[in-house]
Amino acid sequence: MPSRATTVNPAPMSDLNSAAQPGSLALMRRVFAEHGKKHVLAYVAAGVMMALGGAATATSAWLLKPILNKMVEGEAFKELRLLSWAVAGLFAARGLATFGAQALLARVGTRIVADVQNRLFNHLLRQDMRFFNERHSSEFMTRLAIAANGIRDSIQVVTTSLSRDSLTAAGLIGVMIYQDPMMAGIALLSLPVAALTLGRLIIKIRKYARRSFDGSTRILEIMQETVLGARIVKSFNLEPLMSRRMAVAVRDVERAANRMAIGAAIASPVSDVLAGLAIGGVIFYGSWRITIHGADAGSFFSFVAALLLAYEPCKRLARLNLDIQNALVSVRMIYEVLDRPAPEDGRAGMPRLDVSKGRIEFEDVRFSYRPGEPVLDGLDFIAEPSATTALVGPSGGGKSTIISLIQRFYEVDSGRVLIDGRDISAVDLHSLRDRIAFVSQDVFLFRGTIRENIELGKPGASESEIVAAAVKAHAHDFIETFSGGYDTNIGEQGAQLSGGQRQRIAIARAILKDAPIILLDEPTAALDSESEREVQKALDDLRVGRTTLIVAHRLQTIVNADRICVIENGKAVEYGAHADLMAREGTYRNFFSTQFGESFLRPDAVAAPASAG
Ligand SMILES: Nc1ncnc2c1ncn2[C@@H]1O[C@H](COP(=O)(O)OP(=O)(O)OP(=O)(O)O)[C@@H](O)[C@H]1O
Ligand SMILES: [Mg+2]
Repeated sequence: MPSRATTVNPAPMSDLNSAAQPGSLALMRRVFAEHGKKHVLAYVAAGVMMALGGAATATSAWLLKPILNKMVEGEAFKELRLLSWAVAGLFAARGLATFGAQALLARVGTRIVADVQNRLFNHLLRQDMRFFNERHSSEFMTRLAIAANGIRDSIQVVTTSLSRDSLTAAGLIGVMIYQDPMMAGIALLSLPVAALTLGRLIIKIRKYARRSFDGSTRILEIMQETVLGARIVKSFNLEPLMSRRMAVAVRDVERAANRMAIGAAIASPVSDVLAGLAIGGVIFYGSWRITIHGADAGSFFSFVAALLLAYEPCKRLARLNLDIQNALVSVRMIYEVLDRPAPEDGRAGMPRLDVSKGRIEFEDVRFSYRPGEPVLDGLDFIAEPSATTALVGPSGGGKSTIISLIQRFYEVDSGRVLIDGRDISAVDLHSLRDRIAFVSQDVFLFRGTIRENIELGKPGASESEIVAAAVKAHAHDFIETFSGGYDTNIGEQGAQLSGGQRQRIAIARAILKDAPIILLDEPTAALDSESEREVQKALDDLRVGRTTLIVAHRLQTIVNADRICVIENGKAVEYGAHADLMAREGTYRNFFSTQFGESFLRPDAVAAPASAG
């Protein structure tokens, strides 16, 4: 049966919406080619069953003529009894056929939805960072959860209408024409009128379906931000604001749903009035024929039965386009995502990157997130193998961007990023990222336990490897204080942990990865001095024999680095060892004195903690 799931909730994807909209027919063809074809056997089987059901309906209407005429003529009761059994049998057959068809369609339908969901998600995984930066996660949720049904619905509406409804209607109309062609003509006149009226509703409903989907996305977005940002919502007393935002979104969806419901409901009075006229006309003409012309009553009743039975399937056929258009709103939204190029795909053929020393080099790199707003403006710098290079500089200078570019989250506008002399834009992306361990500025943890989160550094790692990594990251001790130990659930994005604990788990994850290149974006920012010293020790162990690039604000981290690179306005303005840079009395010295005060300018001020660490 045509599912109307999409009428309730059809979502927005900002720029994705502006994509040229293909025609409904082309879209339906594509849906069938991509998702219907695979299941063609099941659809044919369901179609046959529905056709059988339709034939049973038509036959039972047709049987009314002999039954009635025999009754009127006072035929043998035995023969009538046989006919009543036949009618009962036909209905049982119809029930069985309908059951078979529905069960089959439901199975195929859920299979299709599952396929679409997997396809959509796998496509998202191949999108680049730009794509994710520009969008809210709720956009994907509505598409994945709701719009995926549209593909199933569009196929099902078409197959059920074409097999069950059109065959049932054809059979019944056949009976009508057979019994009385003239009366059939009168009754069928109403069909084109109904189709025309309903066609007008389609455009309206399509608009509201889209609006309702946009509203649903907004609802998810507000919900998600309220939960994730619960602390800020409470601290800033944002409850009334959130409540208002939600009320607006909910009202939009409600309104759109009401408009759609009314639009769809108008179909009923329209077709009922038309049907009433047709049936009235038939009865008028039929009784005139029977009473004046002595026509047989059996044909008439058989005809009326066929007409009444044909009403529902005809009504569904008349609104077929309406239902298809409704499902296609969702289908369009799915294809808007699927038709986007997947930038992180199709590079499978690139040669693997084999990191030997791990020398990282930026060669006149220019990069901007937005056209005309350069973030890196001809950046040159080198991170030497087996050494730690600290990136320092003012906020917004481009340090995190450098870390992103090494992992090729973005492509550079010009210049090159080289690892061991190989341009990373010409190597296999997976092999590149496989050789890098990264601790981000804003630690991200996944839902699940501490163990699961650390294990992500090396899926399939043994218990002892996980514990060893946690020990090195100075996370083991606090993990052991939890009653659940490594099996402690950490809540969404690690909400049940302190900032410093989250950071140490992220470091353990990176340690477990055991990669030759280590990128640390302020890994100790959320730690107290005691923990920082501990983690610092861990990082010192980790750094041995690896290339480490560390974005640092802390005095200790900076002075411990072998080389320091000062990033300002997208350029490396100074580069060298701490002592040399201090001696130069340039940007670094300025930066250093404003950050840590003049007292640290004395060489002995940093020497003591450094040697302690
Ligand atoms: N995803 C993004 N889209 C657009 N602009 C961005 C994006 N990420 C960063 N920027 C901009 O690029 C510039 C450099 O940002 P970046 O994060 O590299 O700075 P940073 O040196 O790491 O600063 P901080 O010390 O505060 O972490 C900033 O002006 C920032 O606004
Ligand atoms: Mg940063």
